[in-house]
Amino acid sequence: MATKSTHDLAVDALSEDAAQLELARLGAEIAAANLAYHAKDAPDLSDADYDRLKQRNAAIEARFPALKRADSPSEMIGAPVGSGFGKIAHSIRMLSLENAFSDQDVFDFDERIHKFLGRDDAITFTAEPKIDGLSLSLRYEAGRLVQAATRGDGETGEDVTANVLTIPDIPRRIVGAPDVLEVRGEVYMSHADFAALNLKQGEQGEKPFANPRNAAAGSLRQLDPAITASRPLRHFAYAWGELSAPLGDTQKAAIGRLGDLGFQVNPLTVLCANAGDLLEHYRRIEAQRATLGYDIDGVVYKVNDLALQTRLGFRSTTPRWAIAHKFPAELAWTRLLAIDIQVGRTGALSPVARLQPVTVGGVVVSNATLHNEDYIAGRDAKGGPIRDGKDIRVGDWVQVYRAGDVIPKVADVDISKRNPDAQAFVFPQICQECDSPAVREDGDAVRRCTGGLICPAQAVERLKHFVSRAAFDIEGLGAKQIELFFNDADMPVKTPADIFTLASRDAQNHLKRLKNRDGFGDKSVSNLFAAIEAKRDIPLDRLIFALGFRHIGEQAAGLLARHYTTWSAFEAAASIAAPGNPQWQELITIGGVGDVMAGSLTMAMQNPAERRAIDALVAELRVQPVAPRAAANSPVAGLTLVFTGTLEKMSRAEAKARAEAMGAKVAGSVSAKTDLVIAGPGAGSKAKAAEALGIRIIDEDAWLALAGST
Ligand code: IVH
Repeated sequence: MATKSTHDLAVDALSEDAAQLELARLGAEIAAANLAYHAKDAPDLSDADYDRLKQRNAAIEARFPALKRADSPSEMIGAPVGSGFGKIAHSIRMLSLENAFSDQDVFDFDERIHKFLGRDDAITFTAEPKIDGLSLSLRYEAGRLVQAATRGDGETGEDVTANVLTIPDIPRRIVGAPDVLEVRGEVYMSHADFAALNLKQGEQGEKPFANPRNAAAGSLRQLDPAITASRPLRHFAYAWGELSAPLGDTQKAAIGRLGDLGFQVNPLTVLCANAGDLLEHYRRIEAQRATLGYDIDGVVYKVNDLALQTRLGFRSTTPRWAIAHKFPAELAWTRLLAIDIQVGRTGALSPVARLQPVTVGGVVVSNATLHNEDYIAGRDAKGGPIRDGKDIRVGDWVQVYRAGDVIPKVADVDISKRNPDAQAFVFPQICQECDSPAVREDGDAVRRCTGGLICPAQAVERLKHFVSRAAFDIEGLGAKQIELFFNDADMPVKTPADIFTLASRDAQNHLKRLKNRDGFGDKSVSNLFAAIEAKRDIPLDRLIFALGFRHIGEQAAGLLARHYTTWSAFEAAASIAAPGNPQWQELITIGGVGDVMAGSLTMAMQNPAERRAIDALVAELRVQPVAPRAAANSPVAGLTLVFTGTLEKMSRAEAKARAEAMGAKVAGSVSAKTDLVIAGPGAGSKAKAAEALGIRIIDEDAWLALAGST
């Protein structure tokens, strides 16, 4: 007799564990139905079946109130479901790792750490394989797995709990763990399982996966957990997020503890006494790479002592106490069929190699970047030779490489195979999209179209950036729809503001309404307008990022937003900041913002045409203020500090990092805006200036007391 699966059982017959699984399954199924209904405009369940799922979910919740999920469908008010998965804000950000590519990079890493900590004795590290999968955060409360989230943008990930519950390596319950335990690790697929899955895909007429990593990602991000359950996913734990109690004093002990709790931890994790030992272990792992049975793309080194990890802390997106030593990239030779020029949103002309398709490390590559015109000509940024000065011509045999997930690159050229008639590539000096001159500024390797807003390629790319995930993220308005709307004769979207006038223009345009077009039904039009409407309330950081100022990425946009907190304060400062004036000074003392970012930001904010477009957009929005990220209870939060003289117990870098982590600003010189000066021995003119201004001055011990580490 076949065993009954959980979803056949009556609610009364469910055990607590089965109920938890069932809630996860129902949650995912209802989410999938919502997505099909709202986002794809293609309901795949009858109303009655949909209602039955919701009723069963409610009945289980009524019987086991403690199991009600944070993203319970019963709390949902029929709103469209983002990408199909709920979103989870990580309680502690999920970071990435800095990369090392050479032995020297590893020695430099070791030296930087010594310098930061002001130590010259040996520091012990762990070394372990870098698993080539996708990272996952698992949250356990009172020993029960309550949530699993992908990394997403590091701040917010996707809720994949229902799917993760089907992975055998991941325990659902653990005994003897801290009350709150977030385990971070990697989901991956073994080579054998990958080969078998692809065979099955082929038999079922489905497309094969390019590599085990893609297969693992595709399997985890399934709206139907039953599909995930049928895919052989595995997991290694290697780090943690929020904890209610420490796991140990060292990285090695903490990982050992995770192993004892029932997680898979990598057996090739060892302790190394110095950088030389790290390199030795790297070579050992590299030698075993082909026989491990799963993909790894390098070796990760971490400072073993967790107290030192805490002191070292983080840069904006990576910890100072860890590094990933990557294996050399994979290479292949192929023919260069053509060189196309793409115009980006900042006007950069990027040469793209069109290649005879070739497999590089398991992935078929047919496009690769050629960087810029100097690179094609065989020159570096300073005019010196690269590739011994060999240029690259259409028709040449070129070497392509890819490292990890990055865009493949053309590395080398075999001129012995060159056709004698091949002509040197002439890089265009005119933008092919708008006929404006394309120029190179002094010291810039990139040639840029000067057309600005009149260049259609730039305008389209800006709009695509504007609606992208980390920016306005408008459901139903992706790159493809932007292309359509940009060229639409009746309802054109040429600037971001045009997105927000679409609905009112549609209402006035009786005969040519969107719903009469191909691909647009009543429902998809009203969904689109609702999704746009919902984004009129936009947080300041997203708006700044969305505006696409050159050099200002997500991270910098966040820094600016948390500093100025409101659009009006940001706009007021950026409209008048100029080198030397106080607004400029303020801008460049925001940790992480320098002259280059300040330059591009003020150039755009002070350009009349750009401003017209920005002001028209902002008039359509309600910009939400952003709270400064300061440890609210820190005694220096919001203050501007200046360090001067010699610090004896902490390097200058550590002091600055600590102060910034506590919500203070660190300035290089004393001014009326300085709140506190920390003066070590030998402090000179800055201490005097502070005295003259009546600013509080403290010594290093008083600073350490404030910073909480006497
Ligand atoms: S530690 C705060 N250890 O590599 C640092 N990461 O390129 C947390 N990864 O996002 C990461 N194997 O997804 C760590 N043994 C390992 C890893 C590992 C793979 C991934 C992880 C991370 C990415 C950074």
